[in-house]
Amino acid sequence: MSIRYDDRVAVVTGAGNGLGRRHALFLASRGASVVVNDIGGAIDGTGSDAGPAQAVVDEITNAGGTAVANTDDISSDDGAKALVATAKDNWGRCDILINNAGILRDKSFHNMSHDDFVAVVKVHMLGTVRVTHEVWPLMRQNQYGRVIMTTSAAGLYGNFGQANYTTAKMAVIGLMNTLKQEGRKYNITVNTLAPIAGTRMGGTIFPDDVMPLLRPELVTPAVAYLVSEQCTDTGRIIVAGAGHFANVEMVESKGVDFPAADDVSPEMLAEAWAGITDMSGAEPFAEAMAAVQRVFANLNA
Ligand SMILES: NC(=O)c1ccc[n+]([C@@H]2O[C@H](COP(=O)([O-])OP(=O)(O)OC[C@H]3O[C@@H](n4cnc5c(N)ncnc54)[C@H](O)[C@@H]3O)[C@@H](O)[C@H]2O)c1
Repeated sequence: MSIRYDDRVAVVTGAGNGLGRRHALFLASRGASVVVNDIGGAIDGTGSDAGPAQAVVDEITNAGGTAVANTDDISSDDGAKALVATAKDNWGRCDILINNAGILRDKSFHNMSHDDFVAVVKVHMLGTVRVTHEVWPLMRQNQYGRVIMTTSAAGLYGNFGQANYTTAKMAVIGLMNTLKQEGRKYNITVNTLAPIAGTRMGGTIFPDDVMPLLRPELVTPAVAYLVSEQCTDTGRIIVAGAGHFANVEMVESKGVDFPAADDVSPEMLAEAWAGITDMSGAEPFAEAMAAVQRVFANLNA
């Protein structure tokens, strides 16, 4: 099976550096026309520079590929609109969206200003919402779409000093969970990447000696497969880093049922706690109503 993206148009946000750059280079090397978006700011989201996006476009075109640069701020309404318009104006469509752009403003929650919280949520969460909202009608119209959200182990499991970032990174999974359902009949898949790589952002977390080993090139194959025509999975969260790939799921324990007609005291819960929190036989649910059905089943028990 050979995976290619001929005649496909891709938008990659934050593609001037790090992981986004790798995703853009790879998609272009396999035939996609790519909008390389990057505001070119500092890691905390301040400043801008048209250089990084243009450098990646030059790299792609020098290698015989097709790309255009876009330096809009994805967290602004006008920026998200202009970004998707760049794809539409150049090639009339958008088949692949990789929401990747991000910033960091790490501090313990106690010391974090509201502005630092909002700035991070604005890029990771609302930027993802805005750009996805702009491409959604195009994908529906074309009855085809491949959307990637980018989360993080920090979002999935928590990380000291990153309350703003972890909030935003979990939020994009909530967005995916509903869009995977709303996109299904239009052949739009929505999946989430949880990467680990020695990039500018990785450098704030990982030890110096590990950084060169965490090659972003080893993350991109997960995205490359998820956005291919061959992959029809939707709603997955895929971990990728240093050659390790894994699937993450939200699961619910079997739980403990008391008769719904009776009262339940906290002491009864204390006694049943080990059973409630026992994760053996825990299950994922494809959608909210499947989980709710399990509660309803206790009404009829
Ligand atoms: N590197 C890791 O180990 C790791 C781990 C978990 C998640 N991630 C996620 O992967 C993604 C890529 O991060 P990276 O490690 O390549 O970092 P990076 O800093 O190298 O790249 C992020 C890019 O996003 C751009 N950007 C920031 N705000 C923007 C905006 N408003 N509009 C347009 N572009 C903007 C930046 O200019 C930068 O080039 C991020 O979403 C990050 O949270 C990375």
